[in-house]
Amino acid sequence: MRLAALSILLAAASALPSHIIPGAQIIPANDKSALKSIGAHHQIYPDRRTITIRASKNEDDDISSDFLWAIHQANHGGRLLLEKGKTYMIGKKLDLTFLDDIEVQLEGQLKFTNNITYWQANNFYYSFQKSITFWRWGGQDIKIFGKGTLDGNGQKWYDEFSGSQILDPDNTFYRPILFLTENATRVSVEGITQLNSPCWTNFFVRTNDVSFDDVFIHAYSTNASVDAANTDGFDTLSVDGLRVTNTRVDNGDDCFSPKSNTSHIFVQNLWCNNSHGVSMGSIGQYSGVMDFIENAYMENVTLLNGQNGARLKAWAGEDVGYGRITNVTYRNIQIQNTDNPIVLDQCYFDVNSTECAKYPSQVNVTNIVFDNIWGTSSGKEGKVIADLTCSPNAVCSNISLSRIDVTSPAGSPPEIICDGIQGSIGVNCTSST
Ligand SMILES: *[C@@H]1O[C@H](CO)[C@@H](O)[C@H](O)[C@H]1NC(C)=O
Ligand SMILES: *[C@@H]1O[C@H](CO)[C@@H](O)[C@H](O)[C@H]1NC(C)=O
Ligand SMILES: *[C@@H]1O[C@H](CO)[C@@H](O)[C@H](O)[C@H]1NC(C)=O
Ligand SMILES: *[C@@H]1O[C@H](CO)[C@@H](O)[C@H](O)[C@H]1NC(C)=O
Ligand SMILES: *[C@@H]1O[C@H](CO)[C@@H](O)[C@H](O)[C@H]1NC(C)=O
Ligand SMILES: *[C@@H]1O[C@H](CO)[C@@H](O)[C@H](O)[C@H]1NC(C)=O
Ligand SMILES: *[C@@H]1O[C@H](CO)[C@@H](O)[C@H](O)[C@H]1NC(C)=O
Ligand SMILES: *[C@@H]1O[C@H](CO)[C@@H](O)[C@H](O)[C@H]1NC(C)=O
Ligand SMILES: *[C@@H]1O[C@H](CO)[C@@H](O)[C@H](O)[C@H]1NC(C)=O
Ligand SMILES: *[C@@H]1O[C@H](CO)[C@@H](O)[C@H](O)[C@H]1NC(C)=O
Ligand SMILES: *[C@@H]1O[C@H](CO)[C@@H](O)[C@H](O)[C@H]1NC(C)=O
Repeated sequence: MRLAALSILLAAASALPSHIIPGAQIIPANDKSALKSIGAHHQIYPDRRTITIRASKNEDDDISSDFLWAIHQANHGGRLLLEKGKTYMIGKKLDLTFLDDIEVQLEGQLKFTNNITYWQANNFYYSFQKSITFWRWGGQDIKIFGKGTLDGNGQKWYDEFSGSQILDPDNTFYRPILFLTENATRVSVEGITQLNSPCWTNFFVRTNDVSFDDVFIHAYSTNASVDAANTDGFDTLSVDGLRVTNTRVDNGDDCFSPKSNTSHIFVQNLWCNNSHGVSMGSIGQYSGVMDFIENAYMENVTLLNGQNGARLKAWAGEDVGYGRITNVTYRNIQIQNTDNPIVLDQCYFDVNSTECAKYPSQVNVTNIVFDNIWGTSSGKEGKVIADLTCSPNAVCSNISLSRIDVTSPAGSPPEIICDGIQGSIGVNCTSST
């Protein structure tokens, strides 16, 4: 009897947190009124043990250690709430690869410091396009939702990077990615705004089943002489299962551009402004490496004021890789005021025609559908509204265009260029030569 009572007491004690840090709270899942009063109640997701932490007093007040403590407390079935109207500054790199069933409800503002000296010395580095990140998220069953903002504080990064090129082999000014997952399974992000990432906004590495819904990605520069450069919406490396729905992206680079070894892509109701388009790739970048992208379906995408609309891109040049892009559908796509509405580019990145002919791409492009695409080009490429140029060293076959109604302000009829593609593409097209 006494032993049983003691063990119950011990069990109860060990269920309590060892200590609570100053300014933090842990509210049990059954305390509905307390959860409601702090805004931790959700119409869809059941209440959970909920952790709150103190907010930052100013932009130099780094709460990253509180945040990390709270992530540990919320792991295994709980929720971290970042409250509406509060700002939480992250000033230290964070390794969050131990997650298993966690929710982060972001209603306030989670913002990174812009101490470039610190972040360039302290980050997670990926050799793939020399990417760095402030933090990395990994594990399983990770859900981030709310109406708050994840803010990369990018302006200082854009200013100092200005004049450099990310793909220049001599560039050493690396800028952090705003959200990165690695070795993660079942990640969902809903409702939030992702603001001014210093570089790519999202990068998923060895991740399966990631979904974004109702997210707004916005990257802009307030300095008229510099761009918010390379602020891609979505990039991937070895991902199976990627869903992006009801999402808006207003940035200065790719809107959506899965890369090496990505499969099962689904995009619906995506809106992109000022972007470099919705692209498959680029792939085939690294010498001797085989890359693939397969099984992608994209529908109801609106692309405004961009460099490209619907694009497939693969590397050419000395010492590049090889691979395939296959089974990709673009359906119901509206493109307005865009330089290159429909593109197959196998001379990426900026490889001139002599060099591209000498070292052509070895990425096969097969089973591609462009169906029901309408709107206008910008006229920058004259009457050309689609340019599909396949490399002589690759196979491009079963590429079909149907219901294409894109006009050019440079005159009519609009022109479609096709080179090196096996079989008919379903519309009249001319060779570039
Ligand atoms: C920026 O980070 C560096 C290196 O960690 C540090 O020495 C410096 O004090 C920081 N500057 C500011 C303004 O916090
Ligand atoms: C990947 O994550 C799983 C758990 O989700 C873990 O068991 C495994 O060790 C991780 N692998 C690597 C390479 O980190
Ligand atoms: C804009 O960026 C340039 C290049 O870094 C810099 O020289 C200039 O001071 C910036 N302008 C403003 C208003 O910050
Ligand atoms: C298509 O996407 C736009 C937003 O990009 C949305 O407003 C519209 O409702 C979507 N249409 C359909 C039929 O889902
Ligand atoms: C799209 O971008 C243009 C700048 O190119 C901007 O003027 C416009 O407001 C943006 N559209 C929306 C709906 O945000
Ligand atoms: C892609 O997958 C292939 C075959 O599984 C593998 O050889 C290659 O290294 C992968 N590419 C990358 C960039 O990981
Ligand atoms: C093509 O991709 C779609 C998903 O986008 C998938 O449902 C279909 O099974 C794939 N077809 C083949 C032949 O793999
Ligand atoms: C590309 O197609 C050629 C010809 O069918 C084939 O030999 C090669 O294996 C294909 N490459 C890939 C990566 O599938
Ligand atoms: C094409 O690019 C190669 C390699 O960068 C360079 O050596 C060559 O001069 C370029 N040719 C032209 C015509 O620009
Ligand atoms: C051509 O591509 C479409 C779309 O991916 C696919 O459904 C069809 O089976 C392909 N046809 C052949 C002959 O491979
Ligand atoms: C291609 O052009 C020819 C001659 O202008 C026309 O007869 C034919 O119907 C066109 N084919 C398609 C698929 O538009």
